[in-house]
Amino acid sequence: MSPQKKRQSSWRIRLLGELQFNYRTFQYLGPEQWVPRTRIENLQSRVSRHIIKESAMQHLKHCQGLAQVFLIRSQSSRLSKSIIPSLSVWDGNISSRWRSTGGHGRQKYFNDRLPKFRFALAGLLAGSGAVLAYKLQQGKVQWAATSAELPVAETSTPPIYTLEEVTKHRSLDNGVWVTYKGDVYDITEFVAIHPGGDKILLAAGGALEPYWALYAVHQQEHVLEILSKYKIGVLNPESYKKQESANPSDPYSAEPTRHPALQINSLKPFNAEPPASILSDNYITPSVIFFKRNHLPVPRLDPKTYKLEIEGLPDGVVSLSLSELKSRFPKHTITATLQCAGNRRSEMNQVKQVKGLNWGIGAISNATWSGARLRDVLVYYGFGPEVEAKAKHVQFEGLDRDVTGSAYGASIPLNKAVSEESDVLLAYEMNGEDLPPDHGYPVRVVVPGVVGARNVKWLGKIVVSDEESKSHWQQNDYKGFSPGTDWDTVDFKSAPAIQELPIQSAITHPAEGTSLDLSDKELTVKGYAWSGGGREVVRVDVSIDGGKTWHVAKLRSSDTGQHPVPPPPGRAWAWKLWEIDIPVPHRAQELEIVCKAVDNSYNTQPDTVAPIWNLRGVLSNAWHRVKVKVSV
Ligand code: MTE
Repeated sequence: MSPQKKRQSSWRIRLLGELQFNYRTFQYLGPEQWVPRTRIENLQSRVSRHIIKESAMQHLKHCQGLAQVFLIRSQSSRLSKSIIPSLSVWDGNISSRWRSTGGHGRQKYFNDRLPKFRFALAGLLAGSGAVLAYKLQQGKVQWAATSAELPVAETSTPPIYTLEEVTKHRSLDNGVWVTYKGDVYDITEFVAIHPGGDKILLAAGGALEPYWALYAVHQQEHVLEILSKYKIGVLNPESYKKQESANPSDPYSAEPTRHPALQINSLKPFNAEPPASILSDNYITPSVIFFKRNHLPVPRLDPKTYKLEIEGLPDGVVSLSLSELKSRFPKHTITATLQCAGNRRSEMNQVKQVKGLNWGIGAISNATWSGARLRDVLVYYGFGPEVEAKAKHVQFEGLDRDVTGSAYGASIPLNKAVSEESDVLLAYEMNGEDLPPDHGYPVRVVVPGVVGARNVKWLGKIVVSDEESKSHWQQNDYKGFSPGTDWDTVDFKSAPAIQELPIQSAITHPAEGTSLDLSDKELTVKGYAWSGGGREVVRVDVSIDGGKTWHVAKLRSSDTGQHPVPPPPGRAWAWKLWEIDIPVPHRAQELEIVCKAVDNSYNTQPDTVAPIWNLRGVLSNAWHRVKVKVSV
């Protein structure tokens, strides 16, 4: 154990000893709100219900500081077993700490708590951070309302269950129970009314750990906290041991090796971006440092047995091998930039916390892609006016699946898929080589000009349809909302799925906070600019005084420095790198460097983040600002 860990652990033991910090000692009243039970009990016996309310609120204030220290310290070991067992549940108006599994009170219990857990569990199973937050805020409001009454909960030993007992609860009739780290939770009512209940039933009667092995990103304290409110008891030690040894192997054990330069946003699933300092060194981003955005484990597919299915064409289901895809259709190559909808999300977080991976400016990269045109393939297998009259969308399904068997999926409008000018590819090469495993080997869709999320990797199925993809990522994620929309009011159905992205630019050099020696009196600023929908970037403006005065940067659209052939109108799929040397005013001590791009539709970027803030932190494209110090 490292000295730091030792210190932390002995600190925790001391703290635990001093405070006897367990559920018998403290009552959990809400997010980060703890109060000693003895205080409440003493108060209860001494004074009227009204006085309890007032005094307990005072004590709550005193104890909060200590409790928060505990919670912060415990973050270093937040996945250790100590958190959940130490949580005690505020049961609102139910007087018994361990609620019974039937009766009238139970209905009220679920009515009160259902919304929060419903979305938390949907998040666990669907693999999105978005749903996890849905209604959490509401939960806090509910707590504030109920705390005004402060009824006092009794404590008792939690009921103990065997694995066999838990396993019996796998249906709505018998109840739906799940376990997590030795604790038992009853989620029956939740399943009954949740639209994705059939999937959740797959977890019934067993452990949540396999789900969280898949969605490690959701193994967070606030999710555990929500789950804790559904606790009905604990597993007996033998059952827990048995369950632990039966846990399936890590679904991420076959992940590819990654370049150490990548800045990792999440390990499982793997999400990483190249450091800003090297992002614009090459016009074509080397595949190893191209940003990687995975929602699930990378599937390892055998090119010999790989099949691509196509549905929705007059001849029924078509099954296509990799060699058929390569030999039957002309190979077409494009240079296209991919950008994740969450690029620059970290700047939205500075305005107000959003849900999602904290991407910097590097969830964007540029590569050459080669493969068959989607249009050619669809036409070859019968696409024509008859299909066109009915169909509206082309859906894509990946071969990466979650534990319920659901695949990653997305769709694009039919006209984008089949238009001669839109260059949608079934790509099998990236930068002149087979696609790397992280980028969709052996085949992915490349939809140039469209948000990364629709560029489905490890492509298994194409469906020509009158409907959008039903996938979670098409329906309940990757959509934009007003800054005024929060997790209480958001309705994912009300907004269209993001397709073409807005204009974007960012500064890659110099880096935020650097101290510059400007003896030569000129500052070199570099960056990238790109716009969605094939709109060409025609200008990048750069300022070093926070936007008071502006300079026009030099644009570059190849690595050679020679003037490349300009893209046909509406087909500018690739970014432009830009650079400029700006004279630094005499005696300047700090500079605020700003960039903004303009595309050929004269779209430009908003100057600040706040008016485009949205709860998922997508479409973040305000002027990029970098502050540096000047040392003369
Ligand atoms: N396709 C599959 N099958 N699974 C995924 O998780 N992620 C999507 C998209 N295609 C994803 C996928 C998202 S959100 C993005 S931004 C891009 O892939 C990222 O592509 P990249 O990893 O090649 O950069």
